[in-house]
Amino acid sequence: MKPLELITTLLSEEGREDPYPLYAELREHGTLVTVEPGYLVATSFDAVNGLLRDPTFAAQDASFLLLSSSILSTNPPEHTRVRRLMSGAFTARRVAELAVAIESQANALIDEITQKGAPADLIDDFAYRLPLGVICELLGVPEKDRSWFRPVAADFAIALEGTFTLDEAAAAQSAAELFEAYFSDLVRSRRGTRQNDLISELVSAAELSESELLGNLALLLLAGFETTTNLIGNGVMTLLQRPEQLARLSGAPELVDVYVEEFLRFDPPVQLTSREAKETTVLEGQRIEAGTYLMALIGSANRDPDRFVHPDHFHPERPGNTSISFGAGAHFCLGAALARLEARIAFPLLLRRLPQLALAGEPLRRNRLVLRGYESLPITWT
Ligand code: HEM
Repeated sequence: MKPLELITTLLSEEGREDPYPLYAELREHGTLVTVEPGYLVATSFDAVNGLLRDPTFAAQDASFLLLSSSILSTNPPEHTRVRRLMSGAFTARRVAELAVAIESQANALIDEITQKGAPADLIDDFAYRLPLGVICELLGVPEKDRSWFRPVAADFAIALEGTFTLDEAAAAQSAAELFEAYFSDLVRSRRGTRQNDLISELVSAAELSESELLGNLALLLLAGFETTTNLIGNGVMTLLQRPEQLARLSGAPELVDVYVEEFLRFDPPVQLTSREAKETTVLEGQRIEAGTYLMALIGSANRDPDRFVHPDHFHPERPGNTSISFGAGAHFCLGAALARLEARIAFPLLLRRLPQLALAGEPLRRNRLVLRGYESLPITWT
């Protein structure tokens, strides 16, 4: 297929089901492929890495107002200033302090699952709830308010996809408005009484404007669970499809760190991001005109055979396994340490407390490419 046809297929249901063969075909066209004039895709590890690390390529304005004031869509110097204010809460040390709370939340969810009995939905009952609970705890979102988040966040998350229908765009817009109103109230209450949470911390950082504050709170909420849910879901599915790996990790939970890195590489929760060339420049030896739109195919970079030996093989103990699943450069994922910690806690607990884990029905995939994961994953155990 020609590059344009490959990209169109990638964005269709077929591509969303299994993008990896399409990525392989795209890589045959080169490391930086022209789809149309002014529209390129980076397919190799080095091209994606180079694109994300080079400040000439800027993050674009989000299509939705609320996120356009978040760090995901801004560039230096605003990006540097705001990211510095936010990063204190996500350092390795601060994140490590959350381990006990994460473990107790994970155990409580598994208690509920075992009390209800098999079958359970791994996504609904666990993979979605754990990261949501953790990010809400960190931000200071009261528990009673969380019940309406899931469908609204799912509508809102479409803002991160490259393509959407008019209906989806309208739903995303109303979801953004709901979140904006909700966080506005929460911020107002914290301006009155400071609490020991991240919202209060950000509110008292006087350098943040109201729209920066709201945009970044919405981003943290969304990035905090829409992605980690998929790391857990995609990882469990990878194990269920490979009984020998499931048995291996169950018997040797101390291997969890390398398994989590390989889950991240093998089926990354965020498949792609994009940039725009601010000036005419060179990438991978090609001249790039100012204004060019570039897609960074993270999912393809992670399967680049020049970087990873037998890339389509799930191999947790591969040496030097540094995938690009959390991005690179100025926008490198702020929550990487938190996501890794949640997964490192979740997998051993799930495998220990739900022995002989198996599928109890047909998994349902989410109709998304950028945020790749499952809508539901029915499981049973003994
Ligand atoms: C496995 C889970 C996760 C994955 C795969 C992931 C992936 C990514 C990627 C690829 C980017 C870079 C986007 C770009 O360059 O355009 C990013 C940025 C970001 N992530 Fe994550 N993320 C995860 C979890 C989290 C969590 C738990 C949080 C929050 C607590 C979070 C917060 C953010 C933020 C705030 C940014 C924007 C950083 C910036 O623009 O400077 N992420 N993430």
